[in-house]
Amino acid sequence: MEYPEQVRIVEVGPRDGLQNESMSLGVETKTELVNRLTASGLSYIEVGSFVSPKWVPQMAGSEEIFTQLPKGENNTYAALTPNMRGLDRAIECGVKEVAVFAAASEEFSQRNINCSIAESLERFTPVLEKSLDLGISVRGYVSCVMGCPYEGPTDPQKVLNVAKALLKMGCYEISLGDTIGVGTPADIERLLAVLLGQIPATKLAVHMHDTYGQALANVLVALQKGITVVDSAVAGLGGCPYARGASGNLATEDLVYMLNGLGIDHGVNLPKLISAGDYICEKLNRANTSKVRHALI
Ligand code: HMG
Ligand code: MG
Repeated sequence: MEYPEQVRIVEVGPRDGLQNESMSLGVETKTELVNRLTASGLSYIEVGSFVSPKWVPQMAGSEEIFTQLPKGENNTYAALTPNMRGLDRAIECGVKEVAVFAAASEEFSQRNINCSIAESLERFTPVLEKSLDLGISVRGYVSCVMGCPYEGPTDPQKVLNVAKALLKMGCYEISLGDTIGVGTPADIERLLAVLLGQIPATKLAVHMHDTYGQALANVLVALQKGITVVDSAVAGLGGCPYARGASGNLATEDLVYMLNGLGIDHGVNLPKLISAGDYICEKLNRANTSKVRHALI
C-alpha cells in the first residue's frame, strides 16, 4: 500500500475542541494552550472563531488570543469566519488565514449557521473576495459529509457540489467533516470515489470525529487515496454544539502515533503534545480521551 511521505496536521483543538466544552476558559489559558501546541511542533493551529458569541460563547475573546500570538512566518494560526462581520473581526487582529464552513445537509446548515446551503455560499462569496484581495488564505469546510444528525446518511454527490462551489470561490483546500463521526471506512471509500473523480487529492483534507471509534480507520483510507492533510484535536477534545451526539475529534496524539508507525513525517514531538493535552484537560477538569496518552503515561 502506498502512503504519503509527509502529512500536514491541522490542529483544531483550541477551536473545535473548546467550542463544545461546557466550561468557557479564559484568554490566558487558551493562549497558553496554543503556545504549548506550537512548541510541540504543530505548525497549523485553528485558534478560535469569529462567530456570534450568543451562539458559541466559548469562542468569545478570540481577538485577544490572536493579538498575543507570535507573528512568525513558520506558523499558521487560523480562525473560522461565518460572514463578513466575522472576517472583519479577524482582519482587525491580523489573522492571515480564515475558514468558511458550509454543510452537505440542509437541516444542519440551518441549525449551525441559520441559513440554507445556497444562502451560506452567497454569504461566503464576499468573504472570499475580500480575503483574497488582502492576501488572506481561505480554507473551506463541508460538514456532515457522511451523515447528518437530522437527515441521516449523506449522498456523496451533495458533498461534491458544495466542495466544488467552495473551491470555485477560491478556497485553497476543502476539509471533509464527519461532524458526528458516523462514517466507516466503507463510507469514506464511497465518498472519495466520487470526490476524487473531480477534485485532486491535494485539495482535500479529512476532519474525523471519533464518536464510533472510526476516525483513525477513516484517516488511513484517506491517506491511501493520496490525501495528505488531516485535522485532529489534542486530547480528543471536541464535538459540535449543533450536532447532537458528536463526540471529540480524532486525538492528535493517536494520529501522531499512527503516522510514526507508518513512517510518515509530520514534525510533531509526541511527549510535548501529550503534555499540552494534559494541561488543557486539567484546566477543563476533563478526561484525556487519547488512547496513546494513556498507553504512554
Ligand atoms: P444569525 O442570528 O442568523 O445572524 O446568526 P445575524 O446576522 O442575524 O446576526 C444576529 C446577531 O449576531 C447580531 O447581533 C449580529 O451583530 C451578531 P445583535 O444585533 O443581535 O446584537 N453577529 C455576530 N457577532 C459576532 N461575530 C459575528 C457575527 N455575525 C452576526 N461573526 C451566524 C448567523 C452565522 C452569525 C450564527 O449562526 C453563528 O455564529 N453560528 C456559528 C455556529 C458555530 O460556530 N458552529 C460551530 C462551528 S462549525 C463546526 O464545528 C463544524 C466543523 O468543525 C467541521 C465538522 O466537524 O464538520 C467546522
Ligand atoms: Mg468538527
